Amino acid sequence: MNLENRKLVLIGTGFVGMSMAYTFLNTGGIDEIVLVDMNTDKTIGEAMDLSHGLPYASSRIKIKAGSYADCKDAAIVVITAGAAQKPGQTRLDLTMVNAKIMKSITESIMASGFDGILIIASNPVDLMAYVAQKVSGLPTSRVLGSGTILDTARLRTLMADYLNVSPTNVHAYMMGEHGDSSFVPWTHAYVGCKKMLELLDEQHKGLDDLHEIYRQVQQAAYEIIEKKKATYYGIGLSLNRLVRAILDDENAILTISAYQQDEYHERDLYIGVPAVINRSGVREIIRLPLNDVDQQKFFNSCKTLKENIKHIEQ
Ligand code: LAC
Repeated sequence: MNLENRKLVLIGTGFVGMSMAYTFLNTGGIDEIVLVDMNTDKTIGEAMDLSHGLPYASSRIKIKAGSYADCKDAAIVVITAGAAQKPGQTRLDLTMVNAKIMKSITESIMASGFDGILIIASNPVDLMAYVAQKVSGLPTSRVLGSGTILDTARLRTLMADYLNVSPTNVHAYMMGEHGDSSFVPWTHAYVGCKKMLELLDEQHKGLDDLHEIYRQVQQAAYEIIEKKKATYYGIGLSLNRLVRAILDDENAILTISAYQQDEYHERDLYIGVPAVINRSGVREIIRLPLNDVDQQKFFNSCKTLKENIKHIEQ
């Protein structure tokens, strides 16, 4: 496993992948990014376009168009390639077409001798992370999906506006499928060091508002796609956050799609949970004692994903 270098390979130079790539010119945190796509002209054009901005960027990054062979010594490979959600589609509608693409891409990555950390963003991300781990044979801790990292950011943004506090002081998580069956364990939400439900009670604010905020988070991607045909800046920044948590060995707690080994009484699937992220990938999954209602929501979300895993494996 490449513990020292900060080389990242991006598979898929569409809007999501290139939004992530662009963020690194401003945040830094990686030494090199290699762009890989079946459309090689696009990778060359994107590498040229990004590189030309470097003199005005705050970080020095080596940017190049490459191939799967460049994965060999990469610390991290991020996969964003695949069909994107269209207006009226759910993420699960992409399962069959993207599972085939994910299998082929993962085989090509592993053929290079890659031995780093695999981050999956292609949707439906929980199922695509499952496919990537099974095909790659990498340890489950080194294959992770973006999961509900963006949903959690959306939740914190909306809660911060609602409570008139900074988003950095909203400690609330979206869990479950990165999709319609996600949920918020509100009993584990805090504002600063105060329980959110206690704060709402003191401010005479009702639970109806929380349900509406959850609905807005759950529907956000659909609404954005209706208006601008795709989402990419939010997920691009979310992937940047995840990559830096790994390369900087942060031990940061992020809600990502992680392989379940009974932490929430489910096994052998990927789903969004809070996890400690560091240079080894997923160091551990944070076990929250869910109440009966939230545990049932978690089970329902797992059931949805497992039903779709069956389709993939047929
Ligand atoms: C979204 C995509 C990343 O939620 O699924 O915007």
